[in-house]
Amino acid sequence: MKNRFLLTALVVALAAAATAFARPTVAAPQDGDETQLEQYMEDINRGMRKLRRAVTDPEANAESIQDVRAIELLVIKSRNETPKMAADIAEADMAAWMLEYQQGMLEFSAKLLELETALVKGDNEAAGAAYKAVGELKSPAHKKFKAKD
Ligand code: HEM
Repeated sequence: MKNRFLLTALVVALAAAATAFARPTVAAPQDGDETQLEQYMEDINRGMRKLRRAVTDPEANAESIQDVRAIELLVIKSRNETPKMAADIAEADMAAWMLEYQQGMLEFSAKLLELETALVKGDNEAAGAAYKAVGELKSPAHKKFKAKD
C-alpha cells in the first residue's frame, strides 16, 4: 500500500517535471500583429534608455538595480519566444538556429547580471562599462535573429 502511494507520487512528480522543462515551441509566429517578443523588446529598449545616464549616477543606484532586474525578467521571458525570422529558416537548420538564439539570450542575461553586480557593489565605473557591453549585443543579435522589416 505504502509502495503504491510512493509510486503514484513519483509518477505525478515526474509528469510535473516533464511539463516544467518542456522545450519552447518552435512554431513561427504569423506576420501582421506585433509579436510578444516585439513587445518584450520594446520594453527592454525603454528600460535600457532609462538606464543610459542613471548607471553612472551613484544616487540612482537603488532605482537602477530595480530597472535592471525588470529587464532581466523580460529577457528570461524572451527566451521562451520564437523570433519571426524562424519562418525563413530551413527545417533542417531550425534546431541549431534556435539553440543559437537561446545562447544569445543567455549571454544577454549574463551581461545584465554583470551590470546588476556592479550596481549592487556601488561600482559605477564598472556599471558604465557593463551597460556598454549589454548594448553591444544588440546589433549582431538582430543581424542573426531579427527578420528584415
Ligand atoms: C540592448 C539590447 C537590445 C535592445 C535594446 C533590443 C531592442 C529591440 C527592439 C526595439 C526591437 C523591435 C521591436 C519591434 O519591431 O516592435 C527588437 C526586436 C528583436 N530583437 Fe532585440 N534588442 C536587444 C537585444 C537583442 C538580443 C540579444 C536578441 C537575441 C538574442 C534580440 C532579438 C530580437 C528579435 C528576434 C527581434 C524581432 C522580434 C520578433 O521576431 O518577433 N534582441 N529588439
